[in-house]
Amino acid sequence: MSEFKRFRCRRADEAARLKHRETFLSAADFIWPVFLVEGKGIAQAVPAMPGVFRYSADTALKELGKLVPKGLRSVLLFGVPKKKGVEQAYRRDGIVQKAIGLIKKRFPAVEVISDVCICSYNPTGHCHIGDNDRTCAVLAEVALSHAAAGADCVAPSDMMDGRVFHIKKRLREHDLGRVRIMSYAAKFASGFYGPFRDAADCAPESGDRKSYQMDPANRDEAMEEIRADLDEGAESIIIKPALSYLDIICRAKQNFSRPVVAYNVSGEYAMVLALSGGLKKSAHLMEETLISIKRAGADRIISYFVPAVLEMLSEKK
Ligand code: PBG
Repeated sequence: MSEFKRFRCRRADEAARLKHRETFLSAADFIWPVFLVEGKGIAQAVPAMPGVFRYSADTALKELGKLVPKGLRSVLLFGVPKKKGVEQAYRRDGIVQKAIGLIKKRFPAVEVISDVCICSYNPTGHCHIGDNDRTCAVLAEVALSHAAAGADCVAPSDMMDGRVFHIKKRLREHDLGRVRIMSYAAKFASGFYGPFRDAADCAPESGDRKSYQMDPANRDEAMEEIRADLDEGAESIIIKPALSYLDIICRAKQNFSRPVVAYNVSGEYAMVLALSGGLKKSAHLMEETLISIKRAGADRIISYFVPAVLEMLSEKK
């Protein structure tokens, strides 16, 4: 008998490693964020996020045509309007509203989730219009317009107090209570959102988002935020960002028996690509970071890596 434990036989070859693997990625884990612009035939590269594009509805449908056969189940839509104005966010013929209808028609089995926020529409770039409760009323209108267009689920990302309550109430008033709410319950005031703000054209004109997004130092408060959103009627919750907040994901999973969704944000994507030297060479780091998010306890992952990861998973089959 040896006096020490031997682990390396578990790692001797790929079959041994697979037998001992505790965490797996699967296509059903993923939600793909899509930036939508007006127009036709558009696939506009986002410079800060290599491999990510802003699509017009028709090209977005084309991309979905490639990803759905590879197992994509769920998309998260962001509108990037040409013309600013908060009221643009709840137009019945807005970019997101139109895209929701088109996607549901063509891919009825795909879960369509819409991001509910006004920052890309608001001339100030902020997620509010000054007053918390008046903002909630606007967000409820936005959510209602997405739900009426056929969204399966709405995802408020603004971090106003009581927005889930207001949205749920508004949806019920219009007999749309069945539309799910996946709230960004614990969204931290993070430096990792930088590239997204280019993609969605939503950098605040002045100041920062620290008066509404959470202090990265707070763990207990994150649990309070999650509990409040679930009590107000959210069916699942998002922790955002993911990589610097794995402890929050882990604790949320232990505390709440609801789907915990992690948002692998734009800065995390750009960071992995920078270290790997491009999307083509990023497979190892991509897999390692996504696995770490799942291992921490995330049930679902929102990630810009979705096209690459679906490709990887379909090659492995
Ligand atoms: C804004 C919003 C942001 C993200 C999603 N919705 C940016 C922000 O709060 O400044 C960030 C996503 C990412 O970085 O990938 N409501």
